[in-house]
Amino acid sequence: MKKSRIVIIGTGAVGSTTAYTLLLRNRMDELVLIDANADKAAGDALDMNHGMPYLGGAKVWAGTYEDCASADIIIITAGAAQKPGESRIDLLKRNIAIFDSIIDQVLLHTRDAILLIASNPVDIMSYRSWKKSGLPANRVIGSGTLLDSARFRYLIGQKLHIDPRSVHAHIIGEHGDSELPVWSLANVAGTELQLSAEDKNEIFVNTRDAAYQIIQAKGATYYAIALALDRICTAILDDEGAVLNVSTLLQNYRGVSDTYLGIPCIIDRNGIRSTLELDLTDQEQDLFTQSADKLKNILETLDN
Ligand code: NAD
Ligand code: LAC
Repeated sequence: MKKSRIVIIGTGAVGSTTAYTLLLRNRMDELVLIDANADKAAGDALDMNHGMPYLGGAKVWAGTYEDCASADIIIITAGAAQKPGESRIDLLKRNIAIFDSIIDQVLLHTRDAILLIASNPVDIMSYRSWKKSGLPANRVIGSGTLLDSARFRYLIGQKLHIDPRSVHAHIIGEHGDSELPVWSLANVAGTELQLSAEDKNEIFVNTRDAAYQIIQAKGATYYAIALALDRICTAILDDEGAVLNVSTLLQNYRGVSDTYLGIPCIIDRNGIRSTLELDLTDQEQDLFTQSADKLKNILETLDN
């Protein structure tokens, strides 16, 4: 049987934490680490390999783009990260240049893998990767608002004293400042959330601004995004049909086309099987359209 292989490009804070998370959870047979700083990738691989007596036996090595040839999933976490006070969009120019060269190198070795993008601004980087690669959109996935939805569910759970796994609630739109909460559909076991308008506002603001708080406190975010990326990889490798809020190409989705945005998607072995259309209120629809317009305006400023 073919061995399952995940390649991670960019083994900084997010890439190395994701590698470690995948390894601890025994998600694949082979894990390849690539970074422009080859010493960093080599050091991470060595450090993780020293834990093998306590692990499940996956093979881990610092590789090259040639190792993408038989990858099932290529996770891209390379590039500049926000400094305190910077927005995700501030990273745009730096990361577009990095991405263009990474996608070119990946395509020399495979057109079969699923690309899973995490670098910011993630919706723009995912769109760029899809457009530049010419791969079908179902195989170019951005982590989107999966992390934001996890933060949202955690904060709702804290307020209600309910396990976040039992809270069903979605953040959609940009993974960034224009994202929106879908309060009208948020529920616990199908029942309406018992939260005041003040509680809701506080929960959403803390969700939207979580990365700013964490970056201010310790310079970067990486544990929760690593778990979110692990969740997407599992949905793919185990052919789950899981519903996850990832960034995908929208075509005629609630009036939006030709941009990547976070919405609920069904994910299986082929990547994104389909999207689920949410029944938004008029106010939510306005916010969703504004978020899409923001990203489309940015996409229009980029060269081809
Ligand atoms: P980091 O600076 O710790 O790591 C970035 C790594 O990319 C470095 O090791 C660097 O050497 C490498 N790199 C740079 N150019 C490269 C190239 N051309 N090829 C290969 N590797 C290259 O940054 P980080 O904290 O790990 O963040 C990485 C990205 O992930 C940032 O854009 C950040 O904003 C984003 N991020 C996204 C989410 C999300 O929810 N999608 C969450 C956290 C961070
Ligand atoms: C996050 C990153 C920085 O933690 O996008 O939301």
